[in-house]
Amino acid sequence: MRIGPRLLRLVALTLALLPASPAAAQDLSGHAGPVSALAASADALLSGGFDGRVILWDGDTQSARRVLRLHNGNVTAVATLPEGRFVTGGQDGRVAVWNRDGQDPAFVTPHGTSPVSALSVSPDGGRIAVGFWDGRLATHTAALSEIAVTQAHAGRVSGLAYLTTGDLVSVGADLRFTRWDGRLAPQARAGLPDLPNGLARAGDRLAVIFAEGSLRLFSADGMLLPERFLSERPLVAIAATPEIVAAAAVDGSIWMLAADSLRFRAGVAAGGGPVWALALTEDTLFAGGVSGAIRRFATSDGALIGGAEDVAQEGFHDGSRGAEVYRACAICHSLQPGDHSRAGPSLHGIFDRPIASVEGYAFSPALRDLDIVWTPQTVAELFELGPDLYTPGSRMPDQRVADPADRQALVEFLDRASR
Ligand code: HEC
Repeated sequence: MRIGPRLLRLVALTLALLPASPAAAQDLSGHAGPVSALAASADALLSGGFDGRVILWDGDTQSARRVLRLHNGNVTAVATLPEGRFVTGGQDGRVAVWNRDGQDPAFVTPHGTSPVSALSVSPDGGRIAVGFWDGRLATHTAALSEIAVTQAHAGRVSGLAYLTTGDLVSVGADLRFTRWDGRLAPQARAGLPDLPNGLARAGDRLAVIFAEGSLRLFSADGMLLPERFLSERPLVAIAATPEIVAAAAVDGSIWMLAADSLRFRAGVAAGGGPVWALALTEDTLFAGGVSGAIRRFATSDGALIGGAEDVAQEGFHDGSRGAEVYRACAICHSLQPGDHSRAGPSLHGIFDRPIASVEGYAFSPALRDLDIVWTPQTVAELFELGPDLYTPGSRMPDQRVADPADRQALVEFLDRASR
């Protein structure tokens, strides 16, 4: 049976209506804040977080084999290399290659002017491609000597994937899809219908997720193959094997689809709020997000692995639609005065306050340079356009509240709850 967009939309709504499922006893917990990047190999899982930690998890015991600290700020991208080595990229613009057992990185690039936004490793493990928020694309040897660099996109490189041929594909915030050869000379280009948020290779095809909630497959030349509308909310994470494509929406709903036809295989309501990162092996889907825990699901049917136990979701809820929309924010923002213990600053007293002005929170320099006063209107605009566009350089992950009525409900709630 083919599942059309309408049925998928129904599935999306159903998932959205499920209560947040309880957290599993055997979730992988080690990050003191949201998980922003994941990569899986046959025997290990690698995670990067907003807390600056990189954690290498043992595939058998599900315990943290190593916790590494190098990056300043968010670890934005991770990927595995052959022989248990791996590579990480950060908000600090640095890229590091780690050996299986070394505590210190084997190679690391200098601090950069722009955060790393995407990483990909060539099929033979000999090359590492790095995309940056400022649109640059660079290729390196596995010892991080630079091979080539180019201004690939006008705006963030939002996804990178090596093909089996050794060519590289990138998608960017300029709505372009480009295939590059080993010297980063463009081989094929195509326009994209919407803002891409991520890219993964599924066999010889490329799966791209979009801010408007669609997942689309492309050929290596950028020809559009099957596409599926999945969610009213932006899709923010993707992972793929030759058989399965998994995509997550900002509300934490996850879909597993057949990689050839995008036929629906299983839906997962991960619980615990937005999912920012996914990784796939043949039998396990890993999902990490704002809750800081990494949850595991069976690729066969989407069932949670590890048993369940109740974890109360902290929050402020007055039963309104706005409180519901705010749940996605509460994981990173307290409403208590001076409580900056989450990834973002307290939003207490947010209205009529200049941006990045609250005491006691280390705002990014990019935010401090902006000239915005927060009002119901400017906060609504922030989530109409998304932090990347409205507050460029912000560490707040890009997310939008697409529905104008939801934005209105959100700011009305904030007006009540932030006083
Ligand atoms: C995953 C964490 C995360 C989520 C989810 C998140 N934020 Fe943020 N937010 C941040 C961070 C981090 C900053 C500070 C950014 C910086 O310093 O660059 C921030 C900054 C802000 C600011 C600017 C604060 C100031 O004092 O200038 C506002 C307003 C804001 N967020 C509102 C929201 C709302 C509303 C939501 C939900 C729709 C939300 N955020 C969801 C992490 C998050």
